[in-house]
Amino acid sequence: MVRKITKAVIPAAGLGTRFLPATKALPKEMLPVVDKPAVQYVVEEAVKAGLSHVLMITGRNKNALENHFDRAVELENLLLEKGDKARFGIVAEATGLADIHYVRQGDPLGLGHAISKAETFVGDEPFAVLLGDDLIEENSYLLAEMILLAESKSVNVIALMEVPQGDVSKYGIATPGNRNEEVIQIKGFVEKPSPEEAPSNFAVIGRYVLQPQVFNVLRNLKPGLGGEIQLTDALNEMAQNSEIAGPVVGYIFDGRRFDTGDRLSYLKTIVEMATEREDLGADFSGWLKRFSQGLPE
Ligand code: G1P
Repeated sequence: MVRKITKAVIPAAGLGTRFLPATKALPKEMLPVVDKPAVQYVVEEAVKAGLSHVLMITGRNKNALENHFDRAVELENLLLEKGDKARFGIVAEATGLADIHYVRQGDPLGLGHAISKAETFVGDEPFAVLLGDDLIEENSYLLAEMILLAESKSVNVIALMEVPQGDVSKYGIATPGNRNEEVIQIKGFVEKPSPEEAPSNFAVIGRYVLQPQVFNVLRNLKPGLGGEIQLTDALNEMAQNSEIAGPVVGYIFDGRRFDTGDRLSYLKTIVEMATEREDLGADFSGWLKRFSQGLPE
């Protein structure tokens, strides 16, 4: 029986220490990418892929997240009174996007621990996980394709991208098996290996479609890298023993991914996305060119 996948889990409980002091009172998922909080791009991606039920795993400062996806009645009325329908639309957009639920992680014990908090929400259905540090280009069908594959074959699907050998220690890295176009069998995973130890340069990029048995694995998992419960370690166990939750396959993405996980890549993301905006792109690109050549504005 094909089980439709309708649920998305978005971990948003990180401390955001790389962005202090901006993240002292604001979750890093709320940092703007041009003029929209990073997390809104991620929710929009989930909704576009047909996932209308979203669970956010939150940590401290979850109020800003909840407020962003809630009505802002006063502001909305003010904009309507002024006849500013365009801005009213922008404000109201986030509210109607999806049916969003929140649960707190409690102790920050790692990504695997955060995901384990989704068990009650997910129940016994396959589900998607979207990490907010990775933004996927807007017109990509990556998640929708991963979902189709997971639904039709009852497998776990992990988005992978080839990265330069020098970057493998920033990612979960897959031990690949046979490949058939975009789909590759996975024999195991290592979280953030050194370039010498890395089994490949296929990096996990923050989009997962998982079978619900992952919760059984997470429940019994020992802390891994950094003393944290690592989702990558749970996936490794599943990949090594397909009886647990079915096979684990990789879906190789060759589109554009934007990394907002550290300051430099966050800045690059904003510049790249701003140059492509219809409303800002031409002016911004022109200025950027002049600026990089040391010319006056
Ligand atoms: C997390 C995962 C890692 C994955 C990465 C993708 O790491 O643990 O396996 O490759 O996201 O962005 P983080 O970047 O949160 O340290």
